[in-house]
Amino acid sequence: MKKIIVSLKAGVCALALASAMPATAQSLPTYLNNAAAIEARVEDALQRMTLREKVNMLHAQSKFSSPGVPRLGIPENWTTDGPHGIRVEVLWDEWNGADWTNDSCIAFPALTCLAASWNTDMAALYGKSIGEEARYRNKNVLLGPGVNIYRTPLNGRNFEYMGEDPYLSSTLVVPYVQGVQANGVAACVKHYALNNQEIDRGHINVIVSDRALHEIYLPAFKAAVTEGKAWAIMGAYNQYKNEHCCHNQILLNKILKHDWGFDGVVISDWGGVHNTAQAIANGLDMEFGTWTDGMTTNKNGAYSMYYLADAYLAQLQAGTANEEVLNDKVRRVLRLVFRTNMSPARPYGSFGSPEHAQAGRKIAEEGIVLLQNNKKLLPLDLSKTKKILVVGENANKKMTVGGGSSSLKAKYEVLPLEGIQARVGAAAQVTYVQGYESPAVRAQDVKNAKDPEKKNIDAAALRAEAVAAAKSADVVIFVGGLNKNDRQDSEGNDRKSLDLPYEQDVLIAELVKANPNTAVVIISGNAVAMPWVKQVPAIVESWYGGTEAGNAIAAVLFGDVNPSGKLPFSFPVKLADNSAHALGEYPGNHVNVTYNEDIFVGYRWHDKENLKPLFAFGHGLSYTTFEYGKLSANKTSLAATDNITFTVSVKNTGTRDGAEIVQLYISEKAPSLPRPVKELKGFKKVFLKAGKEQTVSFTIDKTALSYYNETAGEWATTAGKFEALVGASSADITGKIGFVLK
Ligand code: BGC
Repeated sequence: MKKIIVSLKAGVCALALASAMPATAQSLPTYLNNAAAIEARVEDALQRMTLREKVNMLHAQSKFSSPGVPRLGIPENWTTDGPHGIRVEVLWDEWNGADWTNDSCIAFPALTCLAASWNTDMAALYGKSIGEEARYRNKNVLLGPGVNIYRTPLNGRNFEYMGEDPYLSSTLVVPYVQGVQANGVAACVKHYALNNQEIDRGHINVIVSDRALHEIYLPAFKAAVTEGKAWAIMGAYNQYKNEHCCHNQILLNKILKHDWGFDGVVISDWGGVHNTAQAIANGLDMEFGTWTDGMTTNKNGAYSMYYLADAYLAQLQAGTANEEVLNDKVRRVLRLVFRTNMSPARPYGSFGSPEHAQAGRKIAEEGIVLLQNNKKLLPLDLSKTKKILVVGENANKKMTVGGGSSSLKAKYEVLPLEGIQARVGAAAQVTYVQGYESPAVRAQDVKNAKDPEKKNIDAAALRAEAVAAAKSADVVIFVGGLNKNDRQDSEGNDRKSLDLPYEQDVLIAELVKANPNTAVVIISGNAVAMPWVKQVPAIVESWYGGTEAGNAIAAVLFGDVNPSGKLPFSFPVKLADNSAHALGEYPGNHVNVTYNEDIFVGYRWHDKENLKPLFAFGHGLSYTTFEYGKLSANKTSLAATDNITFTVSVKNTGTRDGAEIVQLYISEKAPSLPRPVKELKGFKKVFLKAGKEQTVSFTIDKTALSYYNETAGEWATTAGKFEALVGASSADITGKIGFVLK
């Protein structure tokens, strides 16, 4: 007991310090680095708890909360979605909103946009800001970030993830997690693992090689745990090796807890638990959202019927369940509590603040990708452009609403049309014509939404009106893409095709015919086909930008911000150019889905098959130009314990300040087993004033050269010849240099 008093005192000092200094992404308050102090509190609490109190902590008591131990003053755990803002308060037992008036959050850009910034500072800012929002709302677990790999452009939830590359997502997830947790809020990284499609997500069994699992699908989770020190992780809905991921021996007990040393809490996805015996034995710690045995829908007060509730208690009381296994789970939950809502070093947080809105805007501006800019149509020059026509439903549609569990009640949302109008002011005339229309979003997301299927839309009439207006405009800004409706970028289902929905392709083709000065802004979290790519001069991918979306888009269109985002996934020309579709294994046979493409996901497949993408992984233009110097290395060979440094200069050769994302790929020349032609192993975003030059260096060691050896069950490297490639995208390599691993 004495020890505990001492640690609390230390905690009080930390609290004083914490309130004086803003929480930074990298540094945790001293108390949280004192594992021994936390463990002492965990053990002290554990030995005071009854069996029932222990079991109570392992399952939900409401939609998003689980009980504490009131007798011991241990508070409840309150989780919240995640991952783009703090979800609205919902009714105790329901998904429906509770109609609070003080829970309108700042909506941050979708994680795809963060990934497109290729900037760890933006990831840290994101984590810090959303963590502060969660803390203020008294949530101690944020259900995010999501880091499932982008396997197919049809996956309805890709917008909640960080793209197709394990290195990029691993690098960005770490500062996000640290930023959140510096607020005394646990990041719950999701969905572990292999939840790469929404179709059949509740039961589909993923068959994947150990290599692809470790090289492609696990690295971001591993980085979140081993480097980011995430305090929670969410099991996925699907199965792996015929066991649901929420209670999966290999994923949870072996890889996560044993191999990676995870000491946090495994939280089930909502309704992802199916079996008491497996939930006890296979690494699950907390159960949420179960549709309990014998019921097909939720029912009030059913929490005692959860798999880890009365059924577990009965086994413990009968002596048929092992109490050490129970104690391990309870220790993890207590550790979560002492790290978060019982941490004396917890800051206070802030909510809906202008600072958070501006943080979101900054991230949105850095993530927007200029895909194409022929004839230098962009940025638009208001001294020459007097009549601007804005077309497209997405210019005038809220995108923070819908999409499933990440749907938000935002404090405000600047729509693209509003952003453009505000930026243009009196300098030009802005006219808006809708041009196309989608059915309403699901009733779950918007009260009293009309039944989507019954809506009668006259696409031809809407189109004709827009095309007629285009003829007399100086410039047309088309804002379209996907949205958060079912079967678009939305949870629970996948897209039906790569094409833009609602006849947008016909509309865009006709608009650009009527007015060649047409810029297309795509709002989406997924790649889309662009049959009109050769006709349309300027194309921008702006993602879902959150609260400040419209201002960020306008800033890029009118050149206040020089675009600097790059694609975190490949845009294939057609669906068959994506490996999951080329090899036919999507969405599987409703029982299994086999990842036949193995490690060849995204650009790794394009490289292997020599397929030219529509827009490559890592691609993104700027309003200025950059020139790369000659790539050099500090040595020609390295030993297994050594490292090697590659250096290249980058010069801003244009007249505007801008930022370039320099990418390093590594290639093994004569591998003994199939390997990708090249893999991303480094990147740096450099900000350069017009005319300025900078040297960029990358230091790697053998881990950047390694592969997962399935026979040995570990990472390995083989001596031989390698090549470092540097460039502006996976398809724009400006320099190469060979080296040898001895
Ligand atoms: C989603 C999770 C989410 C949870 C709680 C589930 O349906 O898959 O990502 O955090 O619901 O809303």
